[in-house]
Amino acid sequence: MTRILFERAVVREHSRSDRSNRIDVIMSASGAIGEQDLQMKAEESRGPPKKRLRVAVEQERSEENKKDYRRKCCYVSSFPLRKISDRLSAHKGRASVVHALIQATQLVDKMKVVEPRPATAKDLAAFHDTAYIETMLRASDCDDNAKSISLETLEKFGLLDDCFVFPKLSVYISAIAGASLTAAKELCSEAKKDQNVIVFCWTGGRHHAHRNKASGFCYVNDVVLSILKMKQTFPKILYVDVDVHHGDGVERAFNFSDEVFTLSFHSYGDAFFPGTGSYSESGKGRGKCYSMNVPLRSGISDAHFVDLFEFVFGAVASSYGPDAIVLVCGADTLSRDPLGNFNMTVDGITRATKCVFDFNVPTLVLGGGGYKIPDVARCWTAVTAAALNAPLPADVPVHDYFPAYAPSYRMRVDPSNARKDLNTPNEIAKIKSSVKASCEKLREKCIDM
Ligand code: FE2
Repeated sequence: MTRILFERAVVREHSRSDRSNRIDVIMSASGAIGEQDLQMKAEESRGPPKKRLRVAVEQERSEENKKDYRRKCCYVSSFPLRKISDRLSAHKGRASVVHALIQATQLVDKMKVVEPRPATAKDLAAFHDTAYIETMLRASDCDDNAKSISLETLEKFGLLDDCFVFPKLSVYISAIAGASLTAAKELCSEAKKDQNVIVFCWTGGRHHAHRNKASGFCYVNDVVLSILKMKQTFPKILYVDVDVHHGDGVERAFNFSDEVFTLSFHSYGDAFFPGTGSYSESGKGRGKCYSMNVPLRSGISDAHFVDLFEFVFGAVASSYGPDAIVLVCGADTLSRDPLGNFNMTVDGITRATKCVFDFNVPTLVLGGGGYKIPDVARCWTAVTAAALNAPLPADVPVHDYFPAYAPSYRMRVDPSNARKDLNTPNEIAKIKSSVKASCEKLREKCIDM
């Protein structure tokens, strides 16, 4: 067991280095081969130049083949789940459009498809207040859209404005929470066989919902429910949120916990929703130092974001040493999102998420925001392909939603000239310096644990 843990630590340490080097390091570190053996192996592979070239090409091909199968990916989706998810007015039709592109690019065939099960009121009560759940279920069952419930009660539970009650809301919340819980259970089960597993549930990621209040188009916090489920299997969970909005509901739920580290990258300032997520918010009580916020100014580009993300994620993950990761991958960071103010492209988001996947611990990937639906589909398809190491075409394949991709019909999303990056290199350097100091404290705390 010690050897397995040691090997896993070495894998994590070298997660971004060359794969073959990593294997050699692991085998050498575990005593399977010594330095002399490594030298002999290197000599053998040299040979005459032509043979050397052939060996190199064969090795490369073999690595490519291995890459295709090196990570198990599961995909939680079904027709009824997509139909009910499509009803949310802010994301009308999104689940179907996203699934159609993932399917049209042949990615569904490369994953284990898992049928979601709806959540029960008892499942929801693992995090949510009972009175809040009862009100939501009762309100949505009324044909006259909750007229029987007082305005005061609806206001108290946040069931107005952007979180208004709509027909079949009870079916919606049960489906959304149930799908993410199904994904969390699948991850726990698959991780027993293979640690290098990723489970996708793109209908999830409702990170703004609170224990007794709906907020920001989020009625039920499937992220918190999933983490609570995963805690039964994984002692330490790292939550990473790259949605343009602060993951406030999740952070607050685990504010006092040292068993869940919450890390959120988001736009901050100028009253940007939800208005929380400053760097100084870093957890409370036992959870002090187990939350980190990376507040950013508007217009951040791929170059700045990816550089910062790799630094911060690398520092936090190596200091905390999570047993599993939950990633909320909101696509409202994209350059054309009508509610966001970042200037990222699909390429930037994919590079950041790849860094998470390469950490090689069981990972649950949930959706989140994203209001320009064809761009969300482009983004989540690319992230799924990155996890699978599967190639994608440059053009959107012809399928049912093909006209939605006009006028470019390309898979990529370009940056916008109208969104200036207000994050200066100086500010980025300051954030890195603060993160470095926080991670030193975190490392000390983790050693004491
Ligand atoms: Fe968002």
